[in-house]
Amino acid sequence: MKITWESLVPSCCISENPKPKPKQSKLVTKQSSFHRISVSDFSGSEDLSISLAGSNLHIFSVQELKVITQNFSSSNFLGEGGFGPVHKGFIDDKLRPGLKAQPVAVKLLDLDGTQGHREWLTEVIFLGQLRHPHLVKLIGYCCEEEHRLLAYEYMPRGSLENQLFRRYSVSLPWSTRMKIALGAAKGLAFLHEAEKPVIYRDFKASNILLDSDYNAKLSDFGLAKDGPEGDDTHVSTRVMGTQGYAAPEYLMTGHLTAASDVYSFGVVLLELLTGRRSVDKSRPNREQNLADWARPQLKDARKLGRIIDPRLEGLYSEEGVQKAALVAYQCLSHRPKARPDMSTVVKTLETLKDYKDISTMTFVYIAPVDQHKQSPQKELVNKRNTNSHHHTKSPHKRLTPNSPLHNDFHRA
Ligand SMILES: Nc1ncnc2c1ncn2[C@@H]1O[C@H](COP(=O)(O)OP(=O)(O)OP(=O)(O)O)[C@@H](O)[C@H]1O
Ligand SMILES: [Mg+2]
Repeated sequence: MKITWESLVPSCCISENPKPKPKQSKLVTKQSSFHRISVSDFSGSEDLSISLAGSNLHIFSVQELKVITQNFSSSNFLGEGGFGPVHKGFIDDKLRPGLKAQPVAVKLLDLDGTQGHREWLTEVIFLGQLRHPHLVKLIGYCCEEEHRLLAYEYMPRGSLENQLFRRYSVSLPWSTRMKIALGAAKGLAFLHEAEKPVIYRDFKASNILLDSDYNAKLSDFGLAKDGPEGDDTHVSTRVMGTQGYAAPEYLMTGHLTAASDVYSFGVVLLELLTGRRSVDKSRPNREQNLADWARPQLKDARKLGRIIDPRLEGLYSEEGVQKAALVAYQCLSHRPKARPDMSTVVKTLETLKDYKDISTMTFVYIAPVDQHKQSPQKELVNKRNTNSHHHTKSPHKRLTPNSPLHNDFHRA
């Protein structure tokens, strides 16, 4: 018999001397034979720390996390989403044997917020067991009385959302955008192809975190779901997720499949291509939903040129952009079965690494008409070079990587 989520609340808390019950030993055995415990296996009668024994998660007290974050000081504030505020902290090597000194990001559940214990527990159960270079590492958690916290590896460049859309950020070069898309695609492919597949359900720019080399890692597993089992084709759920990213068939039916994540990936790829947000209410009506507006323009090279992020200043390979646009077009198909799977997306994006950020704008020297002028004037003519990037004579102009991010972004 499964117990309701509400009844889990007290049971996952740290007990001073956890005594394994018969049911718990089953879970520990499962764990040691590398079978992932799913949220539905966790009936609630177990102590979470025992169920996840072997996952290398550290259990922190509120007091320890206060010390780590300097009492959640505002100078360490990184951002805030539906779960609650996130603060930077530092673990020193004396805190726990086996836990190395490192910076961390500590997420604190806002008890009046839109998310709750259920999302916290889902996150701990999934991220506590899934390890991959493109998933953010959960270092530990805290469950003390009503307090729920999570401690992750610190990602120095914050979220893709901040990097792409923050008002004063430097534009990300095309090759960096493709590196991020590839990393995030690998993270999703790993989830979809796991022995027990996972549907991520909340793929969006704010959930893609970046390390100092722009390696992308997926964070926020609070909405994740185990994929369909046996002959089932989908999982039925309450519709959850984020407007502008959720697949149309999922919004209409609540039927969740890996293809719903692929659609959301297509939306993020569009954000990278266009520099526009998935939903932007400040734009004219027909441009407010990015996927609806941009998709019809992705297959036509001339129209595509008009929707590419102007902040790239034409510094990209035409062929690379066209290939990426085609991937986005396929991911955004309204027929879920027509969408590629994530390993196919990874393979295509891998090939884009070989394209260089070469200007597609042409510099033209215009001879001065006025003989008295001293030197010819150099003008930038925004003339798109429709040939292959190999033929362009334009100078390479590489943008420098973004300046370090000060994560003081607040969710609108
Ligand atoms: N591990 C981390 N390292 C560095 N910064 C982080 C980390 N995790 C979160 N952040 C920062 O905290 C911000 C808030 O993250 P959070 O996941 O709580 O909310 P969100 O993704 O913006 O919104 P939502 O609740 O809809 O997922 C992020 O945008 C990011 O800037
Ligand atoms: Mg998030």
